[in-house]
Amino acid sequence: MQTRVLTGITTTGTPHLGNYVGAIRPAVEASRRADVDAFYFMADYHALIKSDDAARIERSRLEIAATWLAAGLDPQRVTFYRQSDIPEIPELTWFLTCVAAKGMLNRAHAYKAAVDRNTETGEDADAGITAGLYMYPVLMAADILAFDAHKVPVGRDQIQHIEMARDLGQRFNHIHGHEFFVLPEALIEEQVATLPGLDGRKMSKSYDNTIPLFAGGKKQLREAIMRIVTDSRLPGEPKDPDNSALFTIFRAFASETETAVFRQTLLDGLGWGDAKQVLYERIETDVAPMRERYEAFMADPAAIETILQQGAQKARAIATPKIAALRDALGLRSANTSAAITASPKTVAKQDKMPRFASFRDADGNFRFRLFSAEGEELLLSISFADPKAAGALQKHLKTLGAAGTVLQIKPQGVTLELDGKQVASTPDYRDEQSRDEALLRLREALDQLAAQD
Ligand code: TRP
Repeated sequence: MQTRVLTGITTTGTPHLGNYVGAIRPAVEASRRADVDAFYFMADYHALIKSDDAARIERSRLEIAATWLAAGLDPQRVTFYRQSDIPEIPELTWFLTCVAAKGMLNRAHAYKAAVDRNTETGEDADAGITAGLYMYPVLMAADILAFDAHKVPVGRDQIQHIEMARDLGQRFNHIHGHEFFVLPEALIEEQVATLPGLDGRKMSKSYDNTIPLFAGGKKQLREAIMRIVTDSRLPGEPKDPDNSALFTIFRAFASETETAVFRQTLLDGLGWGDAKQVLYERIETDVAPMRERYEAFMADPAAIETILQQGAQKARAIATPKIAALRDALGLRSANTSAAITASPKTVAKQDKMPRFASFRDADGNFRFRLFSAEGEELLLSISFADPKAAGALQKHLKTLGAAGTVLQIKPQGVTLELDGKQVASTPDYRDEQSRDEALLRLREALDQLAAQD
């Protein structure tokens, strides 16, 4: 089974070398592994909490998308999208808000730090703090839980948020008596170096010590590298590689052999100016081809838009049925499925462990329904009916047939269900034949369960 790995990138800034080494490069590498199903997205709703500068947010969304694509992210393989293109995320945020303990949110680091700053300066505790900042962890939990992510690669500062996502998922599961959500785990990459910045402290926008990745081209890259702080040892004097930000940055790009050679050259007395030139050339070797792709993407925002729209579609293929199942569980049901109203509470509870139908009206006002497994997985989507009674009749019929009583047509991407020679429902598209075949087993099982109950 693949591990679903999901992470978000807040769209407020322009990527720098530290982002590349610490987040982008390892994430792109992980996305190529056969056992990883990667979901990477631009957390632009989170960006709104930090910034009300629309132009900056717009630019950052574009730059970050272009950067990740230029760094080798394959949007065919990875689900790559913008948070704000997934309306299920704010909807789930509300569902989770309704189970979130306010006391837990009071303890979130970012909110607490803001309160502490106010208290220190004698201000009202909540002065200048938005409810958006307060709700940050719930929105982040929705990002993760909507897709049943197993692993969430984040920096150490985000571990508490992942714990809160687990807490919220668990509460919801508990209250509604069903494992709706996978409980995610933080993935902290120990061996990924945090890159030092120009002054030797961690490279970070807040320290103003960054080296740009693509912005300003190779000229600015070189200029920034020339500003890296070194000690005052002269050319000819041996340098101390292990206490040099310059050497640490070199090592983050170079092979072991290159690193060993560079270390020796420094010990042998290479001047800092020459060392900077070596570093610049080494980084430029990696960055130049990416920069070319980056500039091509930045010159063609429509191409980025297409990729992100396709990503949103892929993401919603998972989130939409998930939210449909949650709505159903919460009692936000179509009045057409009156079963829940007439049934006694006990039968409703029993139905919880059974496959179930969820009816809805599509954009054209027609009636359709989905069949979900007991675990909440979407198994079938019906064709649309102008008459709700016809949709209801088909549901009834499906309940009686059992797997053996239906004609299932196996297609490369999925399975269609036929009745009297007419296609009446189909499964979602599956990524490969193996997942299709596994889903087919679950569909047969669900049809048999329904028939057994009827
Ligand atoms: N809060 C994360 C950060 O600042 C960004 C983010 C938003 C995120 N939603 C997420 C990360 C979901 C992982 C999963 O780094």
